[in-house]
Amino acid sequence: MTTHTPRVFSGIKPSGGLTLGNYLGAIKRFVDMQGQEFETIYCVVDLHAITVWQDPAVLKDATREVAAGFIASGIDPSQSILFNQSQVPAHAELGWIFNCVARVGWMNRMTQFKDKAGKNAEQVSLGLYAYPSLMAADILLYHATHVPVGEDQKQHVELTRDIASKFNHDFKAGDFFPLCEPIIEGPATRVMNLRDGTKKMSKSGESDMERINMTDDADKIAKKFKKAKTDPEPLPETLDGLKDRPEARNLVDIYASLSEVTPEAVISEYAGAGWGRFKPALADLAVEKLAPISQEMARLMKKPDEIDAILAKGSEKADAIAQPILQKTYDIVGLVRSR
Ligand code: AMP
Ligand code: TRP
Repeated sequence: MTTHTPRVFSGIKPSGGLTLGNYLGAIKRFVDMQGQEFETIYCVVDLHAITVWQDPAVLKDATREVAAGFIASGIDPSQSILFNQSQVPAHAELGWIFNCVARVGWMNRMTQFKDKAGKNAEQVSLGLYAYPSLMAADILLYHATHVPVGEDQKQHVELTRDIASKFNHDFKAGDFFPLCEPIIEGPATRVMNLRDGTKKMSKSGESDMERINMTDDADKIAKKFKKAKTDPEPLPETLDGLKDRPEARNLVDIYASLSEVTPEAVISEYAGAGWGRFKPALADLAVEKLAPISQEMARLMKKPDEIDAILAKGSEKADAIAQPILQKTYDIVGLVRSR
């Protein structure tokens, strides 16, 4: 048995702006894992973004904005590797190998594809369908062992494990590719839409009032929380009392995650409180936590060269880990390497 070094990999697509869901479900947790026992690698996954149409000029800004979001939230390029996917060509190369390992039947079970393609499945790009095998390549190219993600990505990380095991088995490669663990922890692994607590908060929802963007100013944040859908009941005495109250539960979870306490602790502080008291407290807390980040993002976005230099350095470091693993994979597969 080889023991793989504890290594974290995760990524975010530069498609539209970053939301509070991305922050609490992903970036904040990436920051927490930095400087622990893991080597941490974080990626702006631009090749994933283009599985649906992206305006080329907008994509470049969106890529820098996600990078700025990482840095402003506390990802330190001297402690973590931070880069954009397309600058390390090995992602696409290993992605092809995995297209030949993964089975069509596995892809057909991916719920995110079904949701995104909807009734339009014949018209979406082939890339959108193959997306999970590129995601497996992102992770396995670094022999990553831990993958922090939001709840919606659980199935893709499980597929990554299936691809790793089929590769190891078919090519009699021992445990060359590790079976990575999805890390889905904390109260905010699925932040919901502010206008409909049964839907996930996403970058692409139709109304801006459904989501908090990481670039929203204090007034916008306050307004969005004030107008967030709730029910007429006050906050209950126990967490059980939030059952079947998805909007209320969501706001409590957001509060818990922002203040780094459990949802139980929030409930015990606010038991019996009405929304007129809870919502302004939540808005103040969100502004206190997010305003410094959005200010730093705005500062960085005025210096795209600074961001590009960080991504260039990160890409070199990522490439140095990825290349030997890709070359070894080619060798295992039986591809001649004569230069
Ligand atoms: P994406 O923006 O789809 O590239 O997602 C990047 C990361 O953010 C993934 O780990 C997602 O699971 C996470 N994420 C996106 N939206 C949410 C949400 N509403 N709640 C929690 N995590 C989310
Ligand atoms: N598929 C992820 C999402 O849509 C983004 C992603 C791409 C990712 N590659 C990854 C996440 C590797 C974790 C690890 O949110």
